[in-house]
Amino acid sequence: MAPVQVKKICCIGAGYVGGPTCAVIALKCPHIQVTIVDLNKARVDAWNSPDFAVPIYEPGLVDVVKQCRGRNLFFSTDVDKAILEADLIFVSVNTPTKKSGVGAGFAADLNYVESATRRIAAVATSSKIVVEKSTVPCRTAESMRTILEANSRPGTRFDILSNPEFLAEGTAIADLFKPDRVLIGSLQTTEGKEACRALADVYANWVPQERILTVGLWSSELSKLAANAMLAQRISSINALSAICEATGANIDEVSHAVGFDSRIGPKFLRASVGFGGSCFQKDILNLVYLSESLHLPQVAAYWRQVVEMNEYQKSRFSKTVVDTLFNTITGKHIAVLGFAFKADTGDTRESAAISLIRDFLSERAFVTIYDPQVSEEQIWQDLSEACPTTPLETIKKQVTIVHSALEACTQKEAIIIATEWKEFLEIDWQTVYANMNRFQGEGHWAWRARVKTVLRHSLSSDIDLNFNIGH
Ligand SMILES: NC(=O)c1ccc[n+]([C@@H]2O[C@H](COP(=O)([O-])OP(=O)(O)OC[C@H]3O[C@@H](n4cnc5c(N)ncnc54)[C@H](O)[C@@H]3O)[C@@H](O)[C@H]2O)c1
Repeated sequence: MAPVQVKKICCIGAGYVGGPTCAVIALKCPHIQVTIVDLNKARVDAWNSPDFAVPIYEPGLVDVVKQCRGRNLFFSTDVDKAILEADLIFVSVNTPTKKSGVGAGFAADLNYVESATRRIAAVATSSKIVVEKSTVPCRTAESMRTILEANSRPGTRFDILSNPEFLAEGTAIADLFKPDRVLIGSLQTTEGKEACRALADVYANWVPQERILTVGLWSSELSKLAANAMLAQRISSINALSAICEATGANIDEVSHAVGFDSRIGPKFLRASVGFGGSCFQKDILNLVYLSESLHLPQVAAYWRQVVEMNEYQKSRFSKTVVDTLFNTITGKHIAVLGFAFKADTGDTRESAAISLIRDFLSERAFVTIYDPQVSEEQIWQDLSEACPTTPLETIKKQVTIVHSALEACTQKEAIIIATEWKEFLEIDWQTVYANMNRFQGEGHWAWRARVKTVLRHSLSSDIDLNFNIGH
Protein backbone atom coordinates (compact mmCIF):
# COMPACT_ATOMS: atom_id res chain seq x y z
CA MET A 1 0.00 0.00 0.00
CA ALA A 2 1.13 3.57 -0.61
CA PRO A 3 2.22 5.49 2.47
CA VAL A 4 -0.74 7.28 3.99
CA GLN A 5 1.20 9.86 6.01
CA VAL A 6 3.39 12.05 3.81
CA LYS A 7 6.62 12.92 5.66
CA LYS A 8 9.02 13.56 2.80
CA ILE A 9 8.25 15.24 -0.50
CA CYS A 10 10.47 15.46 -3.57
CA CYS A 11 9.69 17.92 -6.35
CA ILE A 12 11.35 17.31 -9.71
CA GLY A 13 11.71 20.69 -11.44
CA ALA A 14 12.77 23.88 -9.64
CA GLY A 15 11.11 26.30 -12.08
CA TYR A 16 8.28 28.84 -11.91
CA VAL A 17 5.87 26.20 -10.60
CA GLY A 18 7.97 23.67 -8.65
CA GLY A 19 9.96 26.34 -6.75
CA PRO A 20 7.13 28.52 -5.36
CA THR A 21 4.64 25.65 -4.92
CA CYS A 22 6.90 23.43 -2.87
CA ALA A 23 8.42 26.35 -0.96
CA VAL A 24 4.89 27.20 0.21
CA ILE A 25 4.21 23.55 1.12
CA ALA A 26 7.40 23.61 3.24
CA LEU A 27 6.29 26.84 4.92
CA LYS A 28 2.80 25.60 5.71
CA CYS A 29 3.83 22.05 6.68
CA PRO A 30 6.89 22.33 8.96
CA HIS A 31 6.54 18.60 9.77
CA ILE A 32 7.18 17.64 6.12
CA GLN A 33 10.67 17.66 4.60
CA VAL A 34 10.57 19.09 1.08
CA THR A 35 13.44 18.69 -1.40
CA ILE A 36 13.24 20.44 -4.76
CA VAL A 37 15.58 18.99 -7.36
CA ASP A 38 16.61 20.06 -10.85
CA LEU A 39 19.19 19.00 -13.43
CA ASN A 40 20.01 22.65 -14.05
CA LYS A 41 22.86 23.33 -11.61
CA ALA A 42 22.88 27.10 -12.13
CA ARG A 43 19.20 27.23 -11.18
CA VAL A 44 19.73 25.13 -8.04
CA ASP A 45 22.77 27.23 -7.07
CA ALA A 46 20.65 30.37 -7.36
CA TRP A 47 17.95 28.85 -5.09
CA ASN A 48 20.75 28.08 -2.58
CA SER A 49 22.54 31.42 -2.90
CA PRO A 50 23.57 32.91 0.47
CA ASP A 51 21.98 36.29 -0.39
CA PHE A 52 18.70 34.67 -1.53
CA ALA A 53 19.15 35.75 -5.15
CA VAL A 54 16.54 33.15 -6.17
CA PRO A 55 16.31 32.40 -9.91
CA ILE A 56 12.78 33.71 -10.44
CA TYR A 57 11.22 37.04 -9.52
CA GLU A 58 7.96 36.55 -7.65
CA PRO A 59 6.69 39.00 -5.00
CA GLY A 60 6.85 37.41 -1.52
CA LEU A 61 8.87 34.37 -2.64
CA VAL A 62 12.15 35.33 -0.98
CA ASP A 63 10.41 35.73 2.40
CA VAL A 64 9.02 32.20 2.14
CA VAL A 65 12.40 30.72 1.16
CA LYS A 66 14.13 32.64 3.96
CA GLN A 67 11.79 31.11 6.52
CA CYS A 68 12.23 27.47 5.52
CA ARG A 69 15.44 26.92 3.55
CA GLY A 70 17.74 24.69 5.60
CA ARG A 71 14.88 23.94 8.03
CA ASN A 72 12.57 21.66 6.02
CA LEU A 73 13.18 23.02 2.51
CA PHE A 74 16.18 21.94 0.44
CA PHE A 75 17.30 22.53 -3.14
CA SER A 76 19.57 19.99 -4.79
CA THR A 77 20.81 18.50 -8.05
CA ASP A 78 20.85 15.03 -6.47
CA VAL A 79 17.63 13.84 -8.09
CA ASP A 80 18.13 10.15 -7.22
CA LYS A 81 18.63 10.72 -3.49
CA ALA A 82 15.50 12.86 -3.25
CA ILE A 83 13.46 10.24 -5.16
CA LEU A 84 14.76 7.43 -2.95
CA GLU A 85 13.81 9.22 0.28
CA ALA A 86 10.41 10.64 -0.71
CA ASP A 87 6.93 9.29 0.03
CA LEU A 88 5.40 11.63 -2.53
CA ILE A 89 7.01 13.02 -5.70
CA PHE A 90 5.76 16.02 -7.67
CA VAL A 91 6.72 16.00 -11.35
CA SER A 92 6.88 19.71 -12.15
CA VAL A 93 9.02 19.78 -15.26
CA ASN A 94 8.49 21.84 -18.41
CA THR A 95 6.05 20.69 -21.12
CA PRO A 96 6.69 23.10 -24.03
CA THR A 97 5.01 22.88 -27.43
CA LYS A 98 6.79 20.33 -29.65
CA LYS A 99 9.09 21.99 -32.19
CA SER A 100 9.47 18.99 -34.53
CA GLY A 101 8.09 15.53 -35.26
CA VAL A 102 4.48 14.38 -35.01
CA GLY A 103 2.23 17.17 -33.68
CA ALA A 104 4.96 19.83 -34.10
CA GLY A 105 3.67 23.30 -33.27
CA PHE A 106 0.67 21.95 -31.32
CA ALA A 107 1.28 18.89 -29.14
CA ALA A 108 3.00 19.16 -25.77
CA ASP A 109 6.57 17.85 -25.65
CA LEU A 110 6.36 15.16 -22.99
CA ASN A 111 10.02 14.25 -23.20
CA TYR A 112 10.85 15.85 -19.82
CA VAL A 113 7.87 14.24 -18.09
CA GLU A 114 8.87 10.88 -19.51
CA SER A 115 12.52 11.09 -18.44
CA ALA A 116 11.55 12.20 -14.93
CA THR A 117 9.10 9.27 -14.74
CA ARG A 118 11.73 6.79 -15.99
CA ARG A 119 14.15 8.10 -13.39
CA ILE A 120 11.59 7.49 -10.62
CA ALA A 121 11.02 3.92 -11.88
CA ALA A 122 14.76 3.23 -12.10
CA VAL A 123 15.65 4.60 -8.67
CA ALA A 124 12.70 3.93 -6.33
CA THR A 125 13.08 1.02 -3.92
CA SER A 126 9.86 1.69 -2.00
CA SER A 127 6.27 2.62 -2.90
CA LYS A 128 5.60 6.21 -3.92
CA ILE A 129 2.77 8.53 -4.74
CA VAL A 130 3.70 10.22 -8.03
CA VAL A 131 1.92 13.51 -8.70
CA GLU A 132 1.62 15.13 -12.11
CA LYS A 133 2.04 18.86 -11.42
CA SER A 134 3.06 19.79 -14.96
CA THR A 135 0.29 20.70 -17.39
CA VAL A 136 -0.12 17.66 -19.62
CA PRO A 137 -2.54 16.35 -22.25
CA CYS A 138 -5.48 14.34 -21.06
CA ARG A 139 -4.55 10.70 -20.20
CA THR A 140 -0.81 11.36 -19.70
CA ALA A 141 -1.11 9.75 -16.26
CA GLU A 142 -1.88 6.49 -18.05
CA SER A 143 1.44 6.61 -19.94
CA MET A 144 3.25 7.47 -16.70
CA ARG A 145 1.66 4.48 -15.00
CA THR A 146 2.67 2.18 -17.85
CA ILE A 147 6.28 3.38 -17.62
CA LEU A 148 6.37 3.05 -13.83
CA GLU A 149 4.77 -0.37 -13.74
CA ALA A 150 6.88 -1.77 -16.57
CA ASN A 151 10.14 -0.63 -14.99
CA SER A 152 9.57 -0.91 -11.26
CA ARG A 153 11.14 -3.35 -8.81
CA PRO A 154 8.99 -6.15 -7.42
CA GLY A 155 6.98 -5.08 -4.37
CA THR A 156 7.20 -1.38 -5.27
CA ARG A 157 3.86 0.22 -6.04
CA PHE A 158 3.14 3.59 -7.58
CA ASP A 159 -0.06 5.58 -7.28
CA ILE A 160 -0.45 8.37 -9.79
CA LEU A 161 -2.31 11.57 -9.04
CA SER A 162 -2.99 14.64 -11.14
CA ASN A 163 -2.68 17.92 -9.25
CA PRO A 164 -2.47 20.72 -11.84
CA GLU A 165 -1.23 24.09 -10.70
CA PHE A 166 -3.45 27.15 -11.16
CA LEU A 167 -1.08 29.82 -9.82
CA ALA A 168 -0.47 32.87 -11.98
CA GLU A 169 3.06 34.22 -12.28
CA GLY A 170 3.39 37.59 -10.52
CA THR A 171 0.84 36.60 -7.87
CA ALA A 172 2.09 33.04 -7.29
CA ILE A 173 2.65 33.34 -3.55
CA ALA A 174 -0.71 35.00 -2.87
CA ASP A 175 -2.40 32.40 -5.11
CA LEU A 176 -0.68 29.53 -3.27
CA PHE A 177 -1.51 30.94 0.17
CA LYS A 178 -5.19 31.34 -0.76
CA PRO A 179 -5.96 29.20 -3.79
CA ASP A 180 -9.39 29.45 -5.46
CA ARG A 181 -9.24 25.67 -5.46
CA VAL A 182 -6.80 22.77 -5.22
CA LEU A 183 -7.68 20.07 -7.72
CA ILE A 184 -6.63 16.45 -7.17
CA GLY A 185 -7.45 13.72 -9.67
CA SER A 186 -7.05 10.04 -8.93
CA LEU A 187 -8.16 6.66 -10.16
CA GLN A 188 -11.41 5.78 -8.41
CA THR A 189 -9.90 2.61 -6.89
CA THR A 190 -9.37 2.12 -3.14
CA GLU A 191 -5.62 2.73 -3.54
CA GLY A 192 -6.21 5.73 -5.81
CA LYS A 193 -8.57 7.31 -3.28
CA GLU A 194 -6.09 6.60 -0.42
CA ALA A 195 -3.32 8.39 -2.33
CA CYS A 196 -5.68 11.27 -3.09
CA ARG A 197 -6.48 11.59 0.63
CA ALA A 198 -2.77 11.62 1.53
CA LEU A 199 -2.16 14.60 -0.80
CA ALA A 200 -5.38 16.33 0.29
CA ASP A 201 -4.12 16.05 3.90
CA VAL A 202 -0.96 17.95 2.92
CA TYR A 203 -2.99 20.85 1.49
CA ALA A 204 -5.45 20.72 4.40
CA ASN A 205 -2.68 22.23 6.56
CA TRP A 206 -3.71 25.62 5.18
CA VAL A 207 -6.40 25.25 2.48
CA PRO A 208 -10.04 25.05 3.66
CA GLN A 209 -11.55 21.62 3.03
CA GLU A 210 -14.27 22.96 0.70
CA ARG A 211 -11.62 24.33 -1.66
CA ILE A 212 -9.91 20.95 -2.11
CA LEU A 213 -11.70 19.30 -5.02
CA THR A 214 -11.18 15.61 -5.69
CA VAL A 215 -12.13 14.25 -9.12
CA GLY A 216 -11.18 11.51 -11.59
CA LEU A 217 -7.70 11.57 -13.15
CA TRP A 218 -8.77 12.52 -16.68
CA SER A 219 -11.15 15.27 -15.50
CA SER A 220 -8.32 16.79 -13.47
CA GLU A 221 -5.90 16.77 -16.42
CA LEU A 222 -8.48 18.26 -18.78
CA SER A 223 -9.67 20.90 -16.26
CA LYS A 224 -6.28 22.63 -16.34
CA LEU A 225 -6.29 22.94 -20.15
CA ALA A 226 -9.95 23.99 -20.01
CA ALA A 227 -9.30 26.75 -17.44
CA ASN A 228 -6.43 28.25 -19.44
CA ALA A 229 -8.33 28.00 -22.72
CA MET A 230 -11.34 29.82 -21.25
CA LEU A 231 -9.19 32.57 -19.71
CA ALA A 232 -7.33 33.13 -22.99
CA GLN A 233 -10.64 33.07 -24.87
CA ARG A 234 -11.89 36.05 -22.84
CA ILE A 235 -8.77 38.01 -23.74
CA SER A 236 -9.13 37.19 -27.44
CA SER A 237 -12.84 38.09 -27.28
CA ILE A 238 -12.24 41.54 -25.81
CA ASN A 239 -9.34 42.11 -28.22
CA ALA A 240 -11.59 41.22 -31.16
CA LEU A 241 -14.03 43.83 -29.85
CA SER A 242 -11.21 46.38 -29.52
CA ALA A 243 -10.68 46.13 -33.30
CA ILE A 244 -14.38 46.87 -33.84
CA CYS A 245 -14.18 49.79 -31.39
CA GLU A 246 -11.31 51.34 -33.28
CA ALA A 247 -13.22 51.06 -36.54
CA THR A 248 -16.44 52.53 -35.13
CA GLY A 249 -15.30 55.13 -32.59
CA ALA A 250 -16.61 53.15 -29.63
CA ASN A 251 -14.29 53.07 -26.61
CA ILE A 252 -13.10 49.59 -25.63
CA ASP A 253 -12.55 50.57 -21.98
CA GLU A 254 -16.17 51.72 -21.76
CA VAL A 255 -17.40 48.61 -23.55
CA SER A 256 -15.42 46.25 -21.31
CA HIS A 257 -16.59 48.13 -18.20
CA ALA A 258 -20.23 47.91 -19.30
CA VAL A 259 -19.96 44.24 -20.29
CA GLY A 260 -18.08 43.29 -17.12
CA PHE A 261 -20.88 44.70 -14.98
CA ASP A 262 -23.05 41.78 -16.04
CA SER A 263 -22.84 39.43 -13.07
CA ARG A 264 -22.88 36.46 -15.44
CA ILE A 265 -19.71 37.79 -17.12
CA GLY A 266 -17.75 39.74 -14.48
CA PRO A 267 -14.87 42.17 -15.00
CA LYS A 268 -11.82 39.89 -14.86
CA PHE A 269 -9.75 39.17 -17.99
CA LEU A 270 -11.75 41.72 -19.99
CA ARG A 271 -8.97 44.27 -20.39
CA ALA A 272 -8.09 44.90 -24.02
CA SER A 273 -4.36 44.62 -24.58
CA VAL A 274 -1.73 43.92 -27.13
CA GLY A 275 -2.47 40.21 -26.64
CA PHE A 276 -1.72 37.50 -24.12
CA GLY A 277 1.74 36.07 -23.61
CA GLY A 278 3.37 33.73 -21.12
CA SER A 279 4.44 30.14 -21.19
CA CYS A 280 1.00 28.62 -20.70
CA PHE A 281 -1.98 30.09 -22.57
CA GLN A 282 -0.79 29.57 -26.13
CA LYS A 283 0.87 26.23 -25.38
CA ASP A 284 -2.15 24.85 -23.55
CA ILE A 285 -4.67 25.95 -26.19
CA LEU A 286 -2.53 24.46 -28.95
CA ASN A 287 -2.42 21.31 -26.84
CA LEU A 288 -6.24 21.33 -26.71
CA VAL A 289 -6.40 21.88 -30.48
CA TYR A 290 -4.13 18.87 -31.00
CA LEU A 291 -6.18 16.78 -28.60
CA SER A 292 -9.39 17.74 -30.46
CA GLU A 293 -7.84 16.83 -33.81
CA SER A 294 -6.57 13.51 -32.46
CA LEU A 295 -10.12 12.80 -31.29
CA HIS A 296 -11.45 13.61 -34.81
CA LEU A 297 -13.25 16.72 -33.65
CA PRO A 298 -12.19 19.25 -36.35
CA GLN A 299 -14.86 21.85 -35.48
CA VAL A 300 -13.77 21.85 -31.85
CA ALA A 301 -10.12 22.20 -32.92
CA ALA A 302 -10.98 25.12 -35.24
CA TYR A 303 -12.92 26.86 -32.46
CA TRP A 304 -9.98 26.88 -30.05
CA ARG A 305 -7.40 27.55 -32.75
CA GLN A 306 -9.15 30.84 -33.50
CA VAL A 307 -8.40 32.06 -29.95
CA VAL A 308 -4.67 31.82 -30.74
CA GLU A 309 -5.09 33.28 -34.22
CA MET A 310 -6.95 36.28 -32.75
CA ASN A 311 -3.99 36.81 -30.41
CA GLU A 312 -1.52 36.81 -33.30
CA TYR A 313 -3.76 39.23 -35.21
CA GLN A 314 -3.90 41.60 -32.23
CA LYS A 315 -0.11 41.72 -31.98
CA SER A 316 0.39 42.40 -35.68
CA ARG A 317 -2.47 44.94 -35.67
CA PHE A 318 -0.69 46.81 -32.91
CA SER A 319 2.62 46.88 -34.82
CA LYS A 320 0.75 48.20 -37.84
CA THR A 321 -0.88 50.93 -35.71
CA VAL A 322 2.56 52.09 -34.64
CA VAL A 323 3.76 52.25 -38.25
CA ASP A 324 0.59 54.05 -39.39
CA THR A 325 0.84 56.60 -36.57
CA LEU A 326 4.43 57.41 -37.46
CA PHE A 327 3.43 58.44 -41.01
CA ASN A 328 3.54 54.94 -42.51
CA THR A 329 7.23 54.32 -42.04
CA ILE A 330 9.40 53.65 -39.03
CA THR A 331 12.63 53.04 -40.93
CA GLY A 332 15.43 54.82 -39.07
CA LYS A 333 13.01 56.05 -36.38
CA HIS A 334 13.60 55.52 -32.67
CA ILE A 335 11.08 53.60 -30.58
CA ALA A 336 11.15 53.01 -26.83
CA VAL A 337 9.67 49.75 -25.58
CA LEU A 338 8.86 49.87 -21.86
CA GLY A 339 8.54 46.36 -20.49
CA PHE A 340 9.78 43.09 -21.95
CA ALA A 341 8.32 40.50 -19.53
CA PHE A 342 5.04 38.92 -20.63
CA LYS A 343 3.26 40.66 -17.76
CA ALA A 344 4.03 42.73 -14.66
CA ASP A 345 5.64 41.29 -11.51
CA THR A 346 7.52 38.54 -13.28
CA GLY A 347 10.83 38.32 -15.09
CA ASP A 348 9.42 35.59 -17.36
CA THR A 349 9.56 36.49 -21.06
CA ARG A 350 8.19 33.30 -22.60
CA GLU A 351 5.81 34.23 -25.49
CA SER A 352 5.92 37.89 -24.42
CA ALA A 353 4.06 40.19 -26.82
CA ALA A 354 7.04 42.59 -26.58
CA ILE A 355 9.17 40.08 -28.49
CA SER A 356 6.77 39.97 -31.47
CA LEU A 357 6.45 43.76 -31.53
CA ILE A 358 10.21 44.32 -31.45
CA ARG A 359 10.72 41.70 -34.16
CA ASP A 360 8.23 43.61 -36.35
CA PHE A 361 9.94 46.96 -35.63
CA LEU A 362 13.37 45.50 -36.45
CA SER A 363 12.09 44.11 -39.73
CA GLU A 364 10.95 47.67 -40.57
CA ARG A 365 14.52 48.79 -39.74
CA ALA A 366 13.59 50.96 -36.76
CA PHE A 367 15.91 51.51 -33.78
CA VAL A 368 14.52 50.10 -30.53
CA THR A 369 15.44 50.95 -26.93
CA ILE A 370 14.22 48.53 -24.28
CA TYR A 371 13.74 48.94 -20.55
CA ASP A 372 12.33 46.30 -18.17
CA PRO A 373 12.75 46.38 -14.38
CA GLN A 374 13.28 42.62 -14.01
CA VAL A 375 14.40 41.01 -17.26
CA SER A 376 18.18 40.56 -17.65
CA GLU A 377 20.03 41.83 -20.72
CA GLU A 378 21.18 38.30 -21.42
CA GLN A 379 17.58 37.08 -21.56
CA ILE A 380 16.55 39.89 -23.92
CA TRP A 381 19.38 39.08 -26.35
CA GLN A 382 18.53 35.40 -26.23
CA ASP A 383 14.83 36.04 -26.93
CA LEU A 384 15.53 38.45 -29.80
CA SER A 385 18.02 36.02 -31.36
CA GLU A 386 15.40 33.27 -31.25
CA ALA A 387 12.73 35.60 -32.66
CA CYS A 388 14.98 36.65 -35.57
CA PRO A 389 16.78 33.37 -36.39
CA THR A 390 18.19 34.58 -39.71
CA THR A 391 19.71 37.78 -38.27
CA PRO A 392 23.07 37.54 -36.47
CA LEU A 393 23.02 38.89 -32.89
CA GLU A 394 25.67 41.48 -33.86
CA THR A 395 23.25 42.95 -36.41
CA ILE A 396 20.41 42.95 -33.87
CA LYS A 397 22.68 44.78 -31.41
CA LYS A 398 23.19 47.57 -33.95
CA GLN A 399 19.44 48.26 -33.88
CA VAL A 400 18.62 47.53 -30.24
CA THR A 401 19.78 49.24 -27.05
CA ILE A 402 18.95 48.08 -23.52
CA VAL A 403 18.81 50.74 -20.81
CA HIS A 404 18.19 50.87 -17.08
CA SER A 405 15.38 53.38 -16.61
CA ALA A 406 12.13 54.28 -18.31
CA LEU A 407 13.12 57.94 -18.68
CA GLU A 408 16.41 56.99 -20.30
CA ALA A 409 14.53 54.74 -22.72
CA CYS A 410 12.11 57.53 -23.69
CA THR A 411 14.72 60.20 -24.37
CA GLN A 412 14.96 61.31 -28.01
CA LYS A 413 12.38 58.83 -29.27
CA GLU A 414 9.59 59.23 -31.79
CA ALA A 415 7.28 56.70 -30.13
CA ILE A 416 6.86 54.96 -26.82
CA ILE A 417 5.29 51.55 -26.45
CA ILE A 418 4.24 50.25 -23.04
CA ALA A 419 4.34 46.51 -23.55
CA THR A 420 4.17 45.37 -19.91
CA GLU A 421 1.88 46.86 -17.26
CA TRP A 422 4.59 47.45 -14.62
CA LYS A 423 3.23 49.78 -11.93
CA GLU A 424 6.29 52.04 -12.13
CA PHE A 425 5.18 53.10 -15.63
CA LEU A 426 2.13 54.74 -14.05
CA GLU A 427 4.45 57.09 -12.20
CA ILE A 428 6.45 58.25 -15.22
CA ASP A 429 6.80 62.01 -15.40
CA TRP A 430 5.22 62.51 -18.82
CA GLN A 431 6.03 66.19 -18.83
CA THR A 432 9.75 65.33 -18.77
CA VAL A 433 9.25 62.60 -21.36
CA TYR A 434 7.43 65.05 -23.62
CA ALA A 435 10.20 67.60 -23.26
CA ASN A 436 12.84 65.05 -24.23
CA MET A 437 11.11 63.23 -27.09
CA ASN A 438 11.77 63.75 -30.77
CA ARG A 439 8.88 65.65 -32.28
CA PHE A 440 8.15 66.05 -35.92
CA GLN A 441 8.48 69.50 -37.37
CA GLY A 442 5.50 71.67 -36.53
CA GLU A 443 3.92 69.03 -34.33
CA GLY A 444 2.09 70.47 -31.34
CA HIS A 445 1.19 68.88 -28.05
CA TRP A 446 -2.17 67.60 -29.22
CA ALA A 447 -0.74 65.82 -32.23
CA TRP A 448 2.00 64.33 -30.05
CA ARG A 449 -0.49 63.26 -27.43
CA ALA A 450 -2.71 61.59 -30.04
CA ARG A 451 0.32 59.76 -31.36
CA VAL A 452 1.48 58.54 -27.96
CA LYS A 453 -2.03 57.77 -26.87
CA THR A 454 -2.56 55.60 -29.89
CA VAL A 455 0.29 53.35 -28.97
CA LEU A 456 -0.59 53.35 -25.32
CA ARG A 457 -4.22 52.55 -25.80
CA HIS A 458 -3.71 48.84 -25.71
CA SER A 459 -2.05 48.54 -22.35
CA LEU A 460 -2.30 50.96 -19.48
CA SER A 461 -3.93 53.78 -21.39
CA SER A 462 -6.91 54.36 -19.17
CA ASP A 463 -4.69 54.60 -16.09
CA ILE A 464 -2.09 56.89 -17.61
CA ASP A 465 -2.73 60.60 -17.54
CA LEU A 466 -1.21 62.39 -20.51
CA ASN A 467 -3.16 65.56 -19.77
CA PHE A 468 -0.24 67.32 -18.11
CA ASN A 469 0.24 71.03 -18.39
CA ILE A 470 2.85 71.69 -21.05
CA GLY A 471 2.90 75.45 -20.49
CA HIS A 472 2.91 76.49 -24.13
N1 LIG B 1 4.65 28.99 -15.33
C1 LIG B 1 3.38 28.99 -14.97
O1 LIG B 1 2.78 30.03 -14.69
C2 LIG B 1 2.63 27.71 -14.85
C3 LIG B 1 1.41 27.70 -14.15
C4 LIG B 1 0.74 26.49 -14.02
C5 LIG B 1 1.26 25.35 -14.60
N2 LIG B 1 2.43 25.39 -15.28
C6 LIG B 1 2.96 24.14 -15.84
O2 LIG B 1 3.94 23.63 -14.93
C7 LIG B 1 5.00 22.97 -15.64
C8 LIG B 1 6.34 23.59 -15.28
O3 LIG B 1 6.33 24.94 -15.72
P1 LIG B 1 7.47 25.97 -15.26
O4 LIG B 1 7.02 27.31 -15.74
O5 LIG B 1 7.79 25.76 -13.82
O6 LIG B 1 8.71 25.43 -16.16
P2 LIG B 1 10.25 25.78 -15.96
O7 LIG B 1 10.89 25.59 -17.29
O8 LIG B 1 10.40 27.09 -15.25
O9 LIG B 1 10.77 24.65 -14.93
C9 LIG B 1 10.91 23.31 -15.23
C10 LIG B 1 12.22 22.81 -14.62
O10 LIG B 1 12.27 21.39 -14.75
C11 LIG B 1 13.62 21.01 -14.92
N3 LIG B 1 13.68 19.64 -15.46
C12 LIG B 1 13.27 19.20 -16.68
N4 LIG B 1 13.44 17.88 -16.79
C13 LIG B 1 13.97 17.46 -15.61
C14 LIG B 1 14.36 16.19 -15.09
N5 LIG B 1 14.22 15.08 -15.82
N6 LIG B 1 14.89 16.13 -13.84
C15 LIG B 1 15.02 17.25 -13.10
N7 LIG B 1 14.66 18.48 -13.53
C16 LIG B 1 14.13 18.58 -14.76
C17 LIG B 1 14.18 22.07 -15.84
O11 LIG B 1 15.59 22.14 -15.76
C18 LIG B 1 13.48 23.34 -15.32
O12 LIG B 1 14.28 24.03 -14.38
C19 LIG B 1 4.62 23.09 -17.11
O13 LIG B 1 3.95 21.93 -17.51
C20 LIG B 1 3.68 24.27 -17.16
O14 LIG B 1 2.77 24.20 -18.22
C21 LIG B 1 3.13 26.55 -15.40
